This record gives sequence, C-alpha cells and structure tokens, in this order.
Amino acid sequence: MYKSLVSGINTLVPLFNGIKVPYINFDNAATTPAFSSVLYGINNFSPYYSSVHRGTGYKSVVSSHFYDNARNIVLDFIKADPNNYTAIFVKNTTEAINKLSFRLMDEIKNGIVLSTHMEHHSNDLPWRYRYNVDYVEVNTKGRLSLNHLEHLLKKNQGKVKLVAVTGASNVTGYINPIHKIAKLAHKYGSKILVDGAQLIPHHSVDIKAVNDLAHIDYIVFSGHKMYAPFGTGVLIAPKNIFESGFSDHIGGGTVDLVTSDDVIWAPPPEKEEAGTPNLFGVVALIESIQTLKKLGMEKVVEYERRLTRYTLEKMKTIPNIILYDDEDIENKVSIISFNIDGLYHGTVATALSLEGGIGVRNGCFCAQPYVQKLLHISKEDIEKYKENRDMLRPGTVRISYGLYNDFKEINIMIELLKQIGNNIDYYHNKYRNPPFYSK
Ligand code: ALA
Repeated sequence: MYKSLVSGINTLVPLFNGIKVPYINFDNAATTPAFSSVLYGINNFSPYYSSVHRGTGYKSVVSSHFYDNARNIVLDFIKADPNNYTAIFVKNTTEAINKLSFRLMDEIKNGIVLSTHMEHHSNDLPWRYRYNVDYVEVNTKGRLSLNHLEHLLKKNQGKVKLVAVTGASNVTGYINPIHKIAKLAHKYGSKILVDGAQLIPHHSVDIKAVNDLAHIDYIVFSGHKMYAPFGTGVLIAPKNIFESGFSDHIGGGTVDLVTSDDVIWAPPPEKEEAGTPNLFGVVALIESIQTLKKLGMEKVVEYERRLTRYTLEKMKTIPNIILYDDEDIENKVSIISFNIDGLYHGTVATALSLEGGIGVRNGCFCAQPYVQKLLHISKEDIEKYKENRDMLRPGTVRISYGLYNDFKEINIMIELLKQIGNNIDYYHNKYRNPPFYSK
C-alpha cells in the first residue's frame, strides 16, 4: 500500500543459484530504508546547507533556523510541552540513553534504577555500570510483570529514582503499557524513561502533561528506525534536568563564556550538543515526521497490525515452527520472533536470504538476557557459553515489518518457510555454517 514511499524497493539481490530477485526487507527493527520524501528533503535543503549556530551568512541563518525549529516539530510529534521539555539531538537511541545516564548522576546518586529483563542492552548496560540496578521480571511468554514492578517499587520505596523501560520490545514486539508504568513509577516517587526506538516508528505516542501522573519523563528514539537515516537520534527530557552540571561531551557550542580559568555553560539544549550539529540528520528526521503525520499514525498501526496478524496465522501452518510471541497482537508492534525446530536460527536466516532474497535478523538482537528468558536457557548452559565463546548459541529468527511491506512479500516468505520446515536435513546441510552471527 505504501511501497512507493520508500527508496530501494526494487533493488535486485542474488540468490544462491545466481538468479537475482527484488530484495524483501523484513529487518526494519534494525534499520528501515529511507522515505523518498526524506531523500528529496535532503536534496532540496542542500543548496542552503551550511553551519548551524556558527555564521551570519544567509545560508547559516537558514540552517540555524531550520535546526532550532526542528526541536519544536519533534516535541509536537509526541505532544511534549515545549515549556517543560527540550529535544536534544544525538546520534541514536544508545547515545541518548548514555547521555541521560551520565546527566542523572546527581539525581540518582546512591538510589536505585529499575530496568527490566526485556531491555535492549542499550537500556540496561548504561545503568548497570553506573548505578544500583534491579530488574523487573518477565513472564514465560516474555511479557513484563507489572506486579513485580510494583513489588520492587514498594520494596525500595523512596530509593528508586528511575524506571528505565522499553516502549516496545525489539525481540517480540510486545508493547509495554507505558502510562500505567509511569503512574506506578510516579506513585512511588520515581521517574520513567521510555526507550522509544521500536515504538515511535510504529505507534502514536503522547507523553502527556507533567501534572498528569501518567506522563513520561524521558523518551528516546532513533531516526534510522523511522525512515530517516543520516545519523540522528533524540533525547526528550525536562529542560531543568540540564540546567546544572555539564554535558558528557564538552567543547564548541556548549558554552556561553570561556576564560582561561572559567566556563559559563550555554543553556540547554545547546550545552548538551558539543560540536557542529548533524543538520542533514535533523532534516531527514523532520521530513520523516512530516510524512508519518501525513499518513496518520493510526493508519500505520492498523496496516502493520494486519500484516502481523496475517503472518502469524500463516506461520501456524508451517511444519516444525516455534512461535514465541503469537498472542495479543493488539499490543504488539510488527515484530515476530520464531525458530524452526531442528534448525539453527542462523541457518534459517541464511536460507531466507539465499533462497528468497529476504533480509531478516537472527540471534539475540542486543537483548541477550531477554532471549535467554524467552528460550528458557538454563544457568548451566549460560555458563557453558561463557566458557566457550565460539559455541553456537541459541537465538531466534526475527521478522520486522515497516509500513511499506506487503502481503505478497509475506506470501513469498511463507512458501519458503514451508519448504524449509519440510526439508530440515536438506537446509541444515546446505546452510549449516551461516556466514554471520548477530549478538
Ligand atoms: N536494536 C536494533 C535491532 O533490534 C539494532 O536490530
């Protein structure tokens, strides 16, 4: 339906037999292709491209104006009040979380951060190595336990300073009830950070007014997962958080006054963005937001949900299939994790690529603790993987849709998966040594 919106849909790729077929990209949770509107926007802006906040020439003024106004467009996209919130441009979600982790040092100090067992490593490690962290459990199907969250908040009453939770899992696509979680967090005196990397491109988000107990304090996301490559991510946070202290990166652009023995920092958000900003990254992000707004996020959600529902129904007919996240599609973004019993996940992913030109991701998706839980990997087995790091490790195959994928592509994949599921030994022998293993 939306195929013409993205660039590269007709790219031909070679199969094992040398025949070339159009690439089917089912790896949008890693990176989406660019919207054509984004590429057009970059091209259109090029004649005016110049330094941001660093020149009086006409082009510099146009560039600076565009860049400054972009913050309001981003804030408006998630209904953040510009009087309270600021949008800081960074490289990606990972950088945004690392920045926040550094900047909350005074606020969190010896307090506790609650992360969860369903996080991407990027919403775990930046907390784990700086603060006391405890983890909210997931149930056997990989759903977050709100009871356990409340238990941890009660048990550590007054000490929990932040609940760091994903908006939607990059492994199962499960959407977390972020506003319920926010209410709980606020009730017990904590703040909440939402990792929006997988949510923002697939769902509308309203972070709500700060006087609403359900509001979100911090939210982060990446342009490259929302049809806007060129390397921009966003950290949205209350402005006052950045008033004291200074940024994790300092230098040009972060200061108001520097003498040989003193520094007066610029106000936020400038003080948080050292060096010349990535203007094209921001142009791309704004074009993407405008395109998504024109399409209407509700329509995007509805369409992607149809793709997911259709796929899960068809997948149930595939011999030897193991599905991990086939329930509650209404509370899921368009991500499906699966295995074919008897085949290594890398073998299935390689077969999809070399027999069908279909790009998926396999492995643990930078969410190893979650995948270990989902696959019920024992502590003993985890010890074995620690001792022998060359061992093939468990994981899943992940399909993740973007709004431009269609039913025809899904049918091609389903037919191929049927072939694979019916011929385990053949595919095992053909692709037993997959070329790439993703952690
Ligand atoms: N976090 C991205 C993924 O899930 C890279 O693939």
